[in-house]
Amino acid sequence: MIAEMNLSAKAQHLIDLEDKHGAHNYHPLPVVLERGLGVHVWDVDGKQYYDFLSAYSAVNQGHSHPKITHALIEQAQKLALTSRAFHNNVLGEYEKFVTELFGFDKVLPMNTGAEAVETALKITRKWGYEKKGVAENSAKIIVCEGNFHGRTISIVSASTDPDARKNFGPFTPGYLTIPYNDITALAEALKDNTVVGFLVEPIQGEAGVYVPNDGYLKTCAEMCKAANVLFIADEVQTGIARTGKLLACDHEEVKPDVLILGKALSGGMYPVSAVLANNDIMMCIKPGQHGSTYGGNPLGCKVAITAMNVVLDEKLADNAQALGELFRNELRAINSDRITTVRGKGLLNAIIIKEKDGISAWEVCLKLAENGLLAKPTHGDIIRFAPPLVITKEQLLDCVSIIKNTIESFA
Ligand SMILES: Cc1ncc(COP(=O)(O)O)c(C=O)c1O
Repeated sequence: MIAEMNLSAKAQHLIDLEDKHGAHNYHPLPVVLERGLGVHVWDVDGKQYYDFLSAYSAVNQGHSHPKITHALIEQAQKLALTSRAFHNNVLGEYEKFVTELFGFDKVLPMNTGAEAVETALKITRKWGYEKKGVAENSAKIIVCEGNFHGRTISIVSASTDPDARKNFGPFTPGYLTIPYNDITALAEALKDNTVVGFLVEPIQGEAGVYVPNDGYLKTCAEMCKAANVLFIADEVQTGIARTGKLLACDHEEVKPDVLILGKALSGGMYPVSAVLANNDIMMCIKPGQHGSTYGGNPLGCKVAITAMNVVLDEKLADNAQALGELFRNELRAINSDRITTVRGKGLLNAIIIKEKDGISAWEVCLKLAENGLLAKPTHGDIIRFAPPLVITKEQLLDCVSIIKNTIESFA
């Protein structure tokens, strides 16, 4: 078993600073990064790594993409924030761009993924009361076991993860929880006519990259439509080309009623999130009923337009699709009983590590880091592999060698 990584005095000092002065709400791998470019990051001692987490799929366009960096600097020098008390000259351009790109009438701009999820929940409830005619304060939203939608009180109220919930109650009411990837359970839950929405991740990312059965999303969307319930897709992690299409829903040609985006919408450069819906839903929100000081700021809007153009110009969805297939095939060819499962879609992938001789997914990740590849374990035995989508075939195969050699070194 590997005790810890060898850290320089500089790295240790920086970790100690965080430890002493920061809340202990994360358990990071012991590496201290100071620079990134494309698929690579460098630590404070100059060691280079492949980034196989991409800030939980926020850096799909690669670190410090020159076009996105340029857009950020240029716009920051002109105008960064106005609040929505006034109009700004970039918001409308962004709203037109993003609604046309994803095919919706309207967008509501926010900043983080959790805020966008909260926004979607609020819009859905409002639609439920004002359009569906559900009695006030009785609306329910169906969610799935194992979901991850963020960290606010209302969102953890919908969580089934004990760590996310313990001692954070009392919780927001109004959720019905069903198993993920279970059409029969959805059918049963939809019989309740106070249900106004079904919130679902097209692939459960944080839970460990659980890919539902083919056709699951399409069937869910059809069932929701038949029940006059909004189908709400949380594509904060799966969206923006990560799974091999612009949206994971596109694999099944599903158009959600409410689409939630975040993370890579701005290429990891600046927090930008969004909720998209058509007029009959979005126009339920009137002035003064929802908002955010930073949401729709010109800096975020400019960064997001540029970040999305990078995704389109560099055909990142196609790259994710092709290299994802290759990656999973190569991982499945690794002959080790330590890897029990390889799963994923596009470049959102995970392996399950069987703990043996004191070597768990954490020790594997420490060794991967030593060998120049950064990935993070989740739920004890799962390692997620999600490199920036700008990765080339040659780089990917280099990473496969690192993973293979690392796993085999534990033989
Ligand atoms: C599916 C999903 N929704 C929402 C969120 C929350 O996003 P944020 O951390 O930006 O609040 C995440 C973050 O990992 C996510 O994966």
